[in-house]
Amino acid sequence: MKKFLSIFATVFVGMSLMFSLCGCEPSNSTETQKVESTVNVKSFYDLSHERYSVRSFSNKPIEEEKINKILECARVAPTARNDQPQFIYILKSKEALEKAKTVTKSTFDAPVIFIICNDTDRSCKIEMDNNLDLGEHDACIACCHMMFEAWELGIGSVWVRGFNADNVAKVFNLPKNMRPVAMLPIGYPAEDSKPSKLHTTKRELKEIYKEL
Ligand SMILES: Cc1cc2nc3c(=O)[nH]c(=O)nc-3n(C[C@H](O)[C@H](O)[C@H](O)COP(=O)(O)O)c2cc1C
Repeated sequence: MKKFLSIFATVFVGMSLMFSLCGCEPSNSTETQKVESTVNVKSFYDLSHERYSVRSFSNKPIEEEKINKILECARVAPTARNDQPQFIYILKSKEALEKAKTVTKSTFDAPVIFIICNDTDRSCKIEMDNNLDLGEHDACIACCHMMFEAWELGIGSVWVRGFNADNVAKVFNLPKNMRPVAMLPIGYPAEDSKPSKLHTTKRELKEIYKEL
């Protein structure tokens, strides 16, 4: 019996070690480890080439489930030191959307607008570079995740930075630690939606890299 117990303990410890080394946890671990399997995912290559900034939206409401999926992709974005300072405000009510129009010209009558913030109480400051706040990078990565997830779900978006962050914080009465980094109006593209000229005006591949 003693021998059996010792073999059992060795196998159990060995398997736990193997799971932790390969980065996968047994299925009953924390909630945050749950990953939904996705079928028919477009390649990221296609997604990144097809996406364009949508500035004309249809009236079709966005399903709550899709909004949650977009937010979920913001949640899992990589962040400096895993500090996870990204925080997102959702504007859906008529009143909130009207307020958004007072802080930027670029709302495009979208049915939903996200304000992606850097929670400066949480964000990583990099000492060796004058305490540079990496939370802005983190918020931008989260915003990218949201933009591409939206597109995967057939929802268009446009990244907006044409605003004054202090003004946005004031109008929406945000806490001092929440710094608006980007706004993301989203919605189903209108029938006449098409890429702007800027979308196709991209530099050549050879112009944007160099081996050192
Ligand atoms: C950091 C950033 C800020 C932007 N700010 C605005 C903005 O304030 N208003 C707007 O209409 N588009 C804005 N855009 C969208 C860009 O104009 C657009 O991505 C660019 O022209 C390329 O077009 P495409 O996204 O269709 O490929 C912004 C994009 C980025 C990445």
